[in-house]
Amino acid sequence: MNFKGRDIVSIKDFTKNEILHILDVAEKMVPIAAGKEKSELLHGYIMASLFFEPSTRTRLSFEAAMKRLGGNVIGFAQPGTTSIMKGESLADTIRTAESYCDVIVMRHPLEGSARMAAEFASVPIINGGDGAGRHPTQCLLDLFTIRKETGSIEGNKIALVGDLKYGRTVHSLAYALALFKARMVFIAPPELQMPSEVVNECRKMGAEPEIKHGIDDIEDIDVLYVTRIQKERFPDPEEYKKVAGSYRIDMETIKNAKDNLIIMHPLPRVDEIDPSIDATKHAAYFRQTFNGVPVRMALLALVLGVIK
Ligand code: NCD
Repeated sequence: MNFKGRDIVSIKDFTKNEILHILDVAEKMVPIAAGKEKSELLHGYIMASLFFEPSTRTRLSFEAAMKRLGGNVIGFAQPGTTSIMKGESLADTIRTAESYCDVIVMRHPLEGSARMAAEFASVPIINGGDGAGRHPTQCLLDLFTIRKETGSIEGNKIALVGDLKYGRTVHSLAYALALFKARMVFIAPPELQMPSEVVNECRKMGAEPEIKHGIDDIEDIDVLYVTRIQKERFPDPEEYKKVAGSYRIDMETIKNAKDNLIIMHPLPRVDEIDPSIDATKHAAYFRQTFNGVPVRMALLALVLGVIK
């Protein structure tokens, strides 16, 4: 298996075996991610982190991953301070960044922008989220978390809850769960249901996702994957107001849940999960957040060809 020089634009670009290999490499990175072991694996390498959209976890965990492996980071999180403000194109920004680094991590509001950047760049492009499109590195850390918390991916019934229309994390995850043949339920208000192209794609792969509107019966669910309503992606603020606050997970929601139910969330949460859930054994979202570091370490080391 060779990942050297590869772009990470969509989870669809990877086979099941490649995904499992990434998760295995990530598992070995855990002590370094936690700061318990030191590493200089990426000493002398530079990662450019180009964030055209707000981010907390994706950017910080990529930067932490690079630095924990002894590498360096350049980049911006406020495109307003760059030549983009003078009218420079994305293509030129990418061509510039690549002449200063070995790998580029990019988040951009435009769907398809990561694929376009990959066409221009000779260094690997890692998609840190492209609009409502895809979020492959989040997907890998979600799979890593599901496997770590429950022992397998395929053995679970997984409910994706919330804004399935605009949420890029669930678009990537639905595809990956279909690949692993996990059972899926898509729970969302009708206006925010999973786009039909994602549902059809899952069906073509042999998955039979259940489509539901309410979160009232979750007794047979093993993993509840909750998402935020993607306010910034609504073309009309009135449409957002209609669905805002339409679902919330609290102690009442999980009263008949399985004892070993895990609740995940890519974060940030707004009001979808009541803070009273945080103290329960079901809450896996902060462990999930940590898992971003070892998974992104694995990806950086693999695409830079430092490990195979
Ligand atoms: C998500 C994103 O940016 O798509 N956050 C993340 O990367 N952890 C989810 C979201 O913004 O709701």
